[in-house]
Amino acid sequence: MLRDFEAGLLRPGHAGQDVVLAGWVHRRRDHGGLVFIDLRDFSGIVQAVFHPEDAPAAFEVASALRSEYVVQIAGQVVERTPETVNPDLSTGGVEVAVREARVLNEAETPPFPINQDTPVDEATRLRYRYLDLRRERMTANIVLRHRVVRFIRNYLGDRDFVEIETPVLGLATPEGARDYLVPSRIHPGRFYALPQSPQQWKQLLVVAGQERYFQIARCYRDEDLRADRQPEFTQLDLELAFVEQDDVLDLIEGLYSELALTEGGRFQTPTPFPRMTWAEAMERYGSDKPDLRIGIEIRDLSSLVEDSEFGVFRNAIAGGGRVRGFAVPGGSDTPRRGADALVELAQELGAGGLIWIAFDGEGDLGSVSPEELHEQTRSPAKRFIDGETLAALGAACGASRGDMLLIVADRDEVTSRVLDGLMRHVAEQRELADPNVLAFALITDFPMFERDAADTRWSAVHHLFTSPYEEDDELLETDPGRVRSRAYDLICNGQEIGSGSIRIHRRERLMRVLRALDLDESEAEERFGHMLQAFTFGAPPHGGIALGIDRTAALLAGERDIREVIAFPKTKTASDPMTGAPSAVEAQQLADVHVALTPEAQASGGATDV
Ligand code: AMO
Repeated sequence: MLRDFEAGLLRPGHAGQDVVLAGWVHRRRDHGGLVFIDLRDFSGIVQAVFHPEDAPAAFEVASALRSEYVVQIAGQVVERTPETVNPDLSTGGVEVAVREARVLNEAETPPFPINQDTPVDEATRLRYRYLDLRRERMTANIVLRHRVVRFIRNYLGDRDFVEIETPVLGLATPEGARDYLVPSRIHPGRFYALPQSPQQWKQLLVVAGQERYFQIARCYRDEDLRADRQPEFTQLDLELAFVEQDDVLDLIEGLYSELALTEGGRFQTPTPFPRMTWAEAMERYGSDKPDLRIGIEIRDLSSLVEDSEFGVFRNAIAGGGRVRGFAVPGGSDTPRRGADALVELAQELGAGGLIWIAFDGEGDLGSVSPEELHEQTRSPAKRFIDGETLAALGAACGASRGDMLLIVADRDEVTSRVLDGLMRHVAEQRELADPNVLAFALITDFPMFERDAADTRWSAVHHLFTSPYEEDDELLETDPGRVRSRAYDLICNGQEIGSGSIRIHRRERLMRVLRALDLDESEAEERFGHMLQAFTFGAPPHGGIALGIDRTAALLAGERDIREVIAFPKTKTASDPMTGAPSAVEAQQLADVHVALTPEAQASGGATDV
């Protein structure tokens, strides 16, 4: 070894000991004729002191050191005097008086400081990711991710789960995003698809008698990227035989509450995790992934205004919609411009408009007469709504004076989307969500089908192996939109963390769902023949779930973007500025796999002739 001790582990108890350390120059300071360096290795940082008289050769080496040089030092651990103790450093009670020093490698000036968490633009960070990862926060994030995965492996291993790898080169999966395709050299014109998830493999493993499967699986989806989406990401994938929905939910609740307790650092995690149906979540929060830390709920106000003279309310209700809204605590301090911005946001989210009602003053709404309340209320809709109705609307939303109501009148689909967006927005502005809480919940009973983007056919909300409720089976043919499924999500702080379902395990039932999706027998055979066949050989009832490891690690690290917990992520345009991927390939490589480029692809530099 080039060292016999780790820098971050030195403590006053080591005083007097001779040590050899190796690491990076985190910081260098000249001070009163001495040179100090903070020496950093994976374990932490310790101060090293170079005296010109005691060790002239080492001092000379130190004089030439720059940030990020790699050095080896030998010296004695010395306890610091009380005035020089650094309480911010775990090694702050000691320093190393250096006798010998050797440069193991020099370093160019880094493109951004390694020793500070200053903002750096994304392209530069990713181009020099190996330097970005040297920074303290990123090192900690990567270690946390490792600990999360280790915890999961131990937890599941202790419960008799078997970790099984499944192919990366496979057949297209019905997960709903675009596939990444790999052309076959041996089979001209044929392609493998990289797995969007191991969904079919894990079901086949259960058919194969593996009653408790898991995998830390890499998945690939060619979709629009966001802070919580990468083209390749990692799932904890699970499947169990002979389970019902609650068995899977109990397992996940146990795993995540213990994980948060063990690796959650500063976070508090309320347990048990609330469980609610999709319909209830949509009703109370307008979202199937509400942020339960916010503490605001949507209320149905329709009955209070159905006879209103106000056309916006009346027309929405007459058109089959509802009037829904919520109270923003303390929201009456919103200036006119702020209220206008909320109206704009509501319109961007698809609402015709937004009615805001600011109750000025303080105390209960009932502490003043309806006339006074009307007088002390600001709202663009004030002349259409009398004092009694204002009081009733406020009371329904649990408002006091000082609060503001935000109300939208439209079809449920619109009011839900808009009120959810508004709630997230005001919660962010007003810091209503406690940043030290992980508010998990389990959402169940998702609808089985939704109309596809073009509104031409039904598609599966989760995926087509999800079991509909047996009670709803007859709706499969008559009213697919009302079929509930045994699909469930784990959510936390307004984000989906995982998703799963009890599966269909009988051939006839799968065929029935495929028919509801307008797939005829031959198409179904072609795409899912292997699943249909497997189900005829005694497939056991089964169910499972997949949880985003990137999202889980980001949550526990307190990061908003999953790239902060991925060692080598892609940019928002799915490229890697460090290696240059995706890149052009040699014409011969394309010929080998029987692929020809379109003129457009050639024009944008698609292939290189070598
Ligand atoms: P689903 O498609 O909902 O379910 O994915 C499960 C979880 O995977 C994570 N995830 C992603 N994370 C980062 N980037 C992405 N592009 C991305 N896409 C998904 C999310 C999500 O909740 N086969 C089913 C699971 C099952 O039924 O067992 C599936 O993949 O955290």
